Amino acid sequence: MSNSQDKVIQMSGICKSYGKSANKVTALSDITFDVYRGEFVAILGPSGSGKTTLMNIIGLMDSADSGQYLLDGEDVTRAKEKVSAKLRNAKIGFVFQKFNLIPKYNALYNVALPLMLQGKSYKEAQLIAKEMLDRVGLGERVKHKPSELSGGQAQRVAIARALVGDCSLILADEPTGALDQKTGHEALDFMQSLNAEGKTIVMITHDVNIASRARRVVRVEDGRLAV
Ligand SMILES: Nc1ncnc2c1ncn2[C@@H]1O[C@H](COP(=O)(O)OP(=O)(O)OP(=O)(O)O)[C@@H](O)[C@H]1O
Ligand SMILES: [Mg+2]
Repeated sequence: MSNSQDKVIQMSGICKSYGKSANKVTALSDITFDVYRGEFVAILGPSGSGKTTLMNIIGLMDSADSGQYLLDGEDVTRAKEKVSAKLRNAKIGFVFQKFNLIPKYNALYNVALPLMLQGKSYKEAQLIAKEMLDRVGLGERVKHKPSELSGGQAQRVAIARALVGDCSLILADEPTGALDQKTGHEALDFMQSLNAEGKTIVMITHDVNIASRARRVVRVEDGRLAV
């Protein structure tokens, strides 16, 4: 039997709304779900269904109005920003639709940065970053800035950056949204191979074909999980 140690995410009764009184918009109502270590889960839903709101809460970039959220067994429901920032950096690797790489830094430095934020020396961070860029097939492009890379290459740099921290969870928001179909499929192939190696992945998407690459699909409609 599994126990709660096998769960990376435990959410129960999460609610979130924006605005006040007449302008109040309920973005999430009573979201309850768990993600086990080693899972690859897609959160699928149409525009406005609450995906980004949910992703922001999972990623500790925002907090719920009510309910409970445990990350790696730790109650983070009302974590202060300083604690959230630390946990984000230590536990979560983000892959965004637009990659969110830092334009003025080359690929190597972009990937090394989270490690330096964790307190590693530049030298050590650089070595690990180089290894990871080799793994995603970009060993020859380490000196290139994001603007000097193709979309697919930039997304692989972003995936390498998400991986270097040895995080518990990879959180991907429309990770293929800015890629053409072929490059998008390659990025998904890579995410599937990471999952096969044991990485836990939660991917947000509005596209049922992309969601089908995950091993489990959770649907969100109007701020609620649909069964
Ligand atoms: N800052 C905000 N202020 C007020 N309402 C908001 C805010 N952010 C989101 N909302 C509302 O909350 C609901 C959920 O929005 P959310 O961004 O989570 O949807 P989404 O599923 O990510 O949509 P999309 O696929 O278009 O990105 C929507 O009705 C949206 O209008
Ligand atoms: Mg969104």
